[in-house]
Amino acid sequence: MINGIMIIVIIGAQWGDEGKGKVVDLLADRFDIVARYQGGHNAGHSVYVGEKAFVLRLLPSGIIHEDKTCVLGNGMVIDPKAFFEEIDQMQNQGISVTPKRLKVSSRAHLIMPYHRALDHTSEERLGNEKIGTTLRGIGPAYEDKAGRRGIRVSDALSPEVLRIRIERNLEEANRIIVLYGQPPLYADQIFNEIFPLVERLRPFVAETSHFFAEAKKQNKKILLEGAQATLLDVDHGTYPYVTSSNPTAGGASVGTGIPPHHITGVLGIVRTYLTRVGEGPFPTEMLDEEEDMANLIRQRGNEYGSVTKRPRRCGWFDAVATRYAAELNGFNSLALTKLDVLDALEEIKVCVGYEIDGKKIETFPAVSQDLQKIKPIYETLEGWKSETLGITKAEDLPAKAREYVEFLSNSVGVEIGLISTGPERDQTIILPDSVMESWFKN
Ligand code: IMP
Repeated sequence: MINGIMIIVIIGAQWGDEGKGKVVDLLADRFDIVARYQGGHNAGHSVYVGEKAFVLRLLPSGIIHEDKTCVLGNGMVIDPKAFFEEIDQMQNQGISVTPKRLKVSSRAHLIMPYHRALDHTSEERLGNEKIGTTLRGIGPAYEDKAGRRGIRVSDALSPEVLRIRIERNLEEANRIIVLYGQPPLYADQIFNEIFPLVERLRPFVAETSHFFAEAKKQNKKILLEGAQATLLDVDHGTYPYVTSSNPTAGGASVGTGIPPHHITGVLGIVRTYLTRVGEGPFPTEMLDEEEDMANLIRQRGNEYGSVTKRPRRCGWFDAVATRYAAELNGFNSLALTKLDVLDALEEIKVCVGYEIDGKKIETFPAVSQDLQKIKPIYETLEGWKSETLGITKAEDLPAKAREYVEFLSNSVGVEIGLISTGPERDQTIILPDSVMESWFKN
């Protein structure tokens, strides 16, 4: 807390799916506003509350708490159809989502049907080098944004502007779509599909950066929820196998209009093992003789995409990549999720260094080809082989589990302030005297 302001960013430290949904949901209770700042419905958070499971793609996890205001920031790309599908789904599950508690930035960009079509053609064009995107049109929407031809929410509110922009953009998009043997799209059809959705969106639209400025004056607490994760950042991640936005902490400022020095803390989410969906380098991936281990973890951790249902690639905890994430984001504290998934393991490996062609390397390589050549240097720790599911106090953990947590924290160089021991809210340990605890106390 600085001068009464409390703004915390929460970010996945690895390649996504670290379990942010649960942690945001837990913290949301202590905050007034929960916002997203980048990405779109490529994200997928599962949050379990009692008997109910909520899958959130576009909406911040705070939406489940009806006394919170949620914001979709200017850095996001929003598919209006997906937006209302999710709102309707929430209403069906008994959560009321009204314009009073959900604000959409007038500066966010819209994902249009041709963006989805272009995501498909782009992946097809790349062939063996495809990114493995979620095919939701995310990349093409950000391309249009950077190319200064995107359609922002505020543009779409005027039917004339929306129609002209669709016609202009579609002319170009159709050339590529047709070249790849797909049927062309029609401007009238797109307009007729999108404009009614935009009309429905109108009451949700707000000047969200001003909203944040006013909220700060009233000392409202703001939680900024990153989607995807650090190693998928378009600048800092494993380019080109990345998403098209900036999940890292700096992106939170750009994607909301909140000045960087008003952000008071950054929380990283790490899992006891790693997963990756889509293509791209993954130094600690469990392959060949470790395939059985990958299957065990995938099964125990239910590692299938919550949006695409793709089986996730599994690997060992990578302290080098996580240290890199800590440098980029300036984590004040880490939340470690899915400890219980490792309960069955005899031995647990942790990557503590990288080697390329017999040479030790100190930094996370910029080039994906170099990352493909990495030989991880592992330390092997003994497993605890007893159940940790649902444990709520650090002292109740088996000694070997405590040693493991400490080992991870030391090898990354950041405190672990929260340990998740199961999917439910109360299956959580908050470490006494940690920075994390101070956020929960506020
Ligand atoms: P895109 O974001 O759909 O363009 O996909 C680019 C890359 O990011 C692909 O490797 C996706 O699998 C990955 N990706 C996108 N969103 C998520 C997510 O929420 N969790 C994990 N990976 C994601």
